[in-house]
Amino acid sequence: MGKSAIALATFAALLGAALAGAGVVVYGGVYDVSASSQHLQAVHSLLETTMQHSVRWRARNIATPPLDDAQRLVRGAALFRDHCVQCHGAPGVAQADIGKSMQPVPGPLVDALQRWRPREIYWITRHGIKMSGMPAWQFRLDEEALWDVAAFVQLLPTLSPQAYAQATAQTAAAPGRAPGVAPNRSGDAERGRLALAQYACQACHTIPGITSSSPNVGPPLQGLASRSLIAGKLANTPDNLVGWIRQPKNVKPLTAMPDMGVSEGDARDMAAYLATLR
Ligand code: HEC
Ligand code: HEC
Repeated sequence: MGKSAIALATFAALLGAALAGAGVVVYGGVYDVSASSQHLQAVHSLLETTMQHSVRWRARNIATPPLDDAQRLVRGAALFRDHCVQCHGAPGVAQADIGKSMQPVPGPLVDALQRWRPREIYWITRHGIKMSGMPAWQFRLDEEALWDVAAFVQLLPTLSPQAYAQATAQTAAAPGRAPGVAPNRSGDAERGRLALAQYACQACHTIPGITSSSPNVGPPLQGLASRSLIAGKLANTPDNLVGWIRQPKNVKPLTAMPDMGVSEGDARDMAAYLATLR
């Protein structure tokens, strides 16, 4: 055997071993997916470092508005109390049970400024962090509200437990959720594709262009544009589709499709995307 033949054979043997190893991990059930088992410290650090660089790179060109406005901080306090404290806790406040046992565990954010610039905290809040429990708020909070809560996170390290309690007691309900984009413009199909995923439609429907585990709880939406009726009842027009997406029970009182709380603008964008599914 020549030298290059030996090198080739060695390479093939190593590749075979690597594939066999990967096969055992994927199909053999040896990897522990439980959230009650910890990542190795090295794995945790690797994931954390990857995440930090990803966020920094993606947030690098975002312009930060003034964040020290008193009204902004009042709104931010209410938003933090209503949407963040359950998982992250706050000065003098523990996370709720849902936040305590997640893997990775959501930290208290009082030290977030040591790791993140304000625009990065805004980015994380807007987009969430994949494969962790950090949700994306883009379709739940409007732009101003996202900056409001990011501004309040800046304030956390300076708040005593008493000051936090006071800041969040003063404010009434948090500002309303994102109204979406102006309702009577025409739909934006690409934004609609994002919205479908952010409203969890793919939890029940298999939808071309959206990653899912191919559920069958609702009918597949492939070919929806070619159907003459929506849910077997309603003429398939853009307005009717928006109406169905927003309030399916108005069309069929006993339907298993829940009201997903979709804003008019978001429903219009979803309808525009669904109209491309021929
Ligand atoms: C359902 C639980 C949950 C909710 C609700 C939640 N988060 Fe998170 N958050 C997480 C998890 C999990 C992480 C990832 C922790 C990690 O990777 O170390 C995270 C990470 C973060 C980070 C990066 C933290 C760091 O220390 O590096 C920020 C900033 C953040 N969240 C802000 C918010 C804000 C602001 C809100 C409210 C609008 C919020 N989160 C609501 C679970 C949550
Ligand atoms: C909990 C499961 C569930 C979720 C989540 C869900 N749906 Fe449905 N959906 C259904 C079921 C079940 C039906 C069939 C309803 C019927 O005919 O009564 C349906 C029907 C539909 C139809 C009509 C399909 C056809 O073939 O006529 C459309 C369009 C639709 N859903 C869109 C959506 C959108 C958009 C979302 C996200 C905002 C969504 N669904 C979220 C369960 C769900």
